[in-house]
Amino acid sequence: MITRAEFSKRRKRLMAMADEQSILIIPSANERLRSKDTTYPFRQDSDFWYLTGFNEPEALLVMVPGRSKGECLLFCRERDADKEAWDGPRVGPEAAVEALAMDDAYPISDLDDILPGLLEGRSRVYYHYGRDSDFDLTLMGWLNRVRAQKRLGAEPPHEFLELGHLLDELRLFKSAGEIALMRRSAEIAVEAQIAAMQATPQARYEYEVEAALQHVYRRRNAVPSYEPIVGSGPNACVLHYRANNAPVKKGDLLLCDAGAEYALYASDITRTWPVSGRFNPAQKALYQRVLDAHQAAIQAARVGAAYDVIHSTAVSVLTEGLLSLGLLKGSLKNALATESYKKFYMHKTGHWLGLDVHDVGEYKLGGKSRQLEPGMVFTIEPGLYIAPGTPGVPAKYQGIGIRIEDDILMTKNGPENLTVGVPATVDAIEALMAKP
Ligand code: GLY
Ligand code: MN
Ligand code: MN
Repeated sequence: MITRAEFSKRRKRLMAMADEQSILIIPSANERLRSKDTTYPFRQDSDFWYLTGFNEPEALLVMVPGRSKGECLLFCRERDADKEAWDGPRVGPEAAVEALAMDDAYPISDLDDILPGLLEGRSRVYYHYGRDSDFDLTLMGWLNRVRAQKRLGAEPPHEFLELGHLLDELRLFKSAGEIALMRRSAEIAVEAQIAAMQATPQARYEYEVEAALQHVYRRRNAVPSYEPIVGSGPNACVLHYRANNAPVKKGDLLLCDAGAEYALYASDITRTWPVSGRFNPAQKALYQRVLDAHQAAIQAARVGAAYDVIHSTAVSVLTEGLLSLGLLKGSLKNALATESYKKFYMHKTGHWLGLDVHDVGEYKLGGKSRQLEPGMVFTIEPGLYIAPGTPGVPAKYQGIGIRIEDDILMTKNGPENLTVGVPATVDAIEALMAKP
């Protein structure tokens, strides 16, 4: 659990980065109507959550560093007995101050009256410009009201800055509390992958394998961190396959890319296993190349190493593997220089992981790959995809897609694999699937 004190500390750190002349504006997510009075599942905005721990829609956090009458202000829905009887309890502005360690809280309906006054006299506005066009217009409306008062001495802000430039950097480094939640998220995703692997030999359709994942997530108070990808046979070559409705065939491999979201923290695992429980020789040969790349890439993740080295290591090992199998021709140097491997490996080897599955944070600083540091969490996910009908490829390799993905916590002692509990070697997968 993230404590109230930690949420408060994050706000203070962000304000210290932003300086005294600024104002920071962070809206919550809102409920989205699906039809009539039915909404899509509500998921709080990750930035808003990171700074408040408040899980209601129709709310706004405003931070005004150095303001004598209070720096951290929350706008939220008022209590409403009728609405709460239908939709559940609301915190309300009166209780929010204490519950969330805010300096003040107001009804969200008072925004229009209060915001122009808060903007007045501040020179910089930090906000996610362009993310929500309705809110962009609302903010511009408030600014124009301050501008209209200029003749009367009002000082409107004149610098408009991207909030993510500061906030993403904070979110990139996970605290002990966050790491504990990410471990739990990883543990749930591990259990789900194992259940899916074990359910496969009896499954008739991909969605039955997906059901095994979902059963574990819900039983452990989690939801999927993205739509699971359960692709058997050639469907595994479709990188964002989500239909999950094809029949599974005994001789095929099945690629399962699925993660949990627990307490808003994501995990993200891929394993690829044989539907029958046994790899055939061609599947095994390709699989071992991906596993070699996966293991080499994890070993390359060291504090002080460039983030890019993870990808370049995976690419080298995969390309060597493709050359050794005759799927690419020529020298390693030439294959790397011409990027001929991209026909079979077209994505990057990972991404930051946290409140979002593709989490925030720069990959480059000053035009160069940034260095790995303790507290960063990222995936390592090499793969090979031989789309059916690829010219010049022996039939035994056609229509095979393989990815192996784990979640890595960077520690000062090296990479810690948070999802190592799912079998990844050929022998371990076959052993698990042979269990009754
Ligand atoms: N499932 C999305 C990813 O692995 O990045
Ligand atoms: Mn994934
Ligand atoms: Mn991923």
